[in-house]
Amino acid sequence: MNEKDYEYKVSAAGRVNIIGEHIDYCGGKVLPAALSLKNTVYVRPNGTNKINVRWTTLPDEVSLDIDKLESYKDIKYGNYQAGSALMWQRAGHKIVGCDMLQDCTVPFGSGLSSSAAIEVSTIAALATVAGEEFDPVDVALKAQQAEREYAGVNCGIMDQYASACGKENHAILLDCKTLEREYVPIKLGGYSLVIINSNKPHNLVESKYNERRTETEQALTQLKKYVDIECLADLTPEEFSKYSHVLSGKVRDRATHVINECDRVNLAVQAMKVGNVDFLGLLLNKSHESLSKLYEVTGRELDALASAAQEHPACVGSRMTGAGFGGCTISLVKTDAVEDFKNYVCQKYESATGYKAKCYQADIADGITVEKLK
Ligand code: GLA
Repeated sequence: MNEKDYEYKVSAAGRVNIIGEHIDYCGGKVLPAALSLKNTVYVRPNGTNKINVRWTTLPDEVSLDIDKLESYKDIKYGNYQAGSALMWQRAGHKIVGCDMLQDCTVPFGSGLSSSAAIEVSTIAALATVAGEEFDPVDVALKAQQAEREYAGVNCGIMDQYASACGKENHAILLDCKTLEREYVPIKLGGYSLVIINSNKPHNLVESKYNERRTETEQALTQLKKYVDIECLADLTPEEFSKYSHVLSGKVRDRATHVINECDRVNLAVQAMKVGNVDFLGLLLNKSHESLSKLYEVTGRELDALASAAQEHPACVGSRMTGAGFGGCTISLVKTDAVEDFKNYVCQKYESATGYKAKCYQADIADGITVEKLK
C-alpha cells in the first residue's frame, strides 16, 4: 500500500477503561483512556455514489451504495462502515463517494473497542473527504447510534466518546449523563498499566449485554416509585441502602454493582490525582469482584486472569475491562517488574484455563487524528 494513493489518513483509537464498568448506560461517570491501538482509514474521493471499502488484512472488497446504506446490516464485512455512514447521512451530512482502506490494530473481540474505533474513524473520514469540519463529540454520538441501531448492541457512550475525544497520557473522566468531561493526567509514579487479553472468544456478548441493560432499567423503574431520580447513578451508596429492599434477586445485585461502581470511580479519580496507587489498585480489585459476583459478566477465564494478576507481588490491582464475557484485564503493576508479571500471569492463566493470554504494549494516545497525505 502506498499512502500517497490516498488523500487523507484518519484514525480513531481503541480504548481501555480504567474503572467505571457497566455504568455508562446508567448515567454514571467512567474513566476510560484512548489507546495507541487504533483503526486507520486511508481515504480519497472517487467521484461515484459508492463507498468502496478494502482492508489491509482481508482479501474482501465491498462497495456500498450511498443511496442504499440501510441495506447492508447483514453483510459480513463493511456493516460497521455502512451503519456509520448511514447515521452520519441521516443527521444531515453530505456523504461523497470515496475509496477507503481500513487498517485496524485494535484486536477484535478483545474488549478494547475495535468496533468504536472503526465507527468513529469511518465517520471522521467521511466528513474529512467531504470537506466538512466536525465536532468529535458529535461523531461519537453518531457512531454510538450506528452500534445501537445498525449493529444491534444497545451500548452506552463510553467507547465511542473515548475513541473520538481521547488525549495523549490522559484518562477521560466522562459524565455519561451530561457528556461533560475532565482530562485526568495518568501519572502513576513507577507503576504501569498492563493490558492482557484472555483470548477467550466472546460468546453471546451482545445478548448478555442487552440483558444486563434491561435489568438495570428494571431496577430504575422500580426505584423511581420511591425516590426522585433520573438514573441509577443519581443515588449514593448511602441513599441506595435506604431503598434497596424494594428490589430483589439479580435486579438488586445489578443495581448494587452500579451504585458502588459509581462511587469507586470518584474515589479512583481522587486517588489518581494524589498519586495514591495502592488505593487505586484496591479499587480495581473491588470493581472486578463486583463485576464477577454481582454483575456476572466475567466468567471463569477473566476471573482466572484477574486473580493470577492480583496475587503477583508487583501488582496492586487488576480487573476486567470493557463489556466482559471474555476480552481483557487491566492491571496496575510496578514498572520494573512488568516482564516478570506478564510471564507469571500468562503461565498461571494457561495452566488454569488452557487458553494462551496475550499482553499488549499500548500507550495512552489521542482519539481522532487527521493527516493530509497530498
Ligand atoms: C461496552 C459498551 C460500553 C460500556 C461497556 C461496559 O464496551 O460499548 O458502552 O457499557 O461495555 O462498561
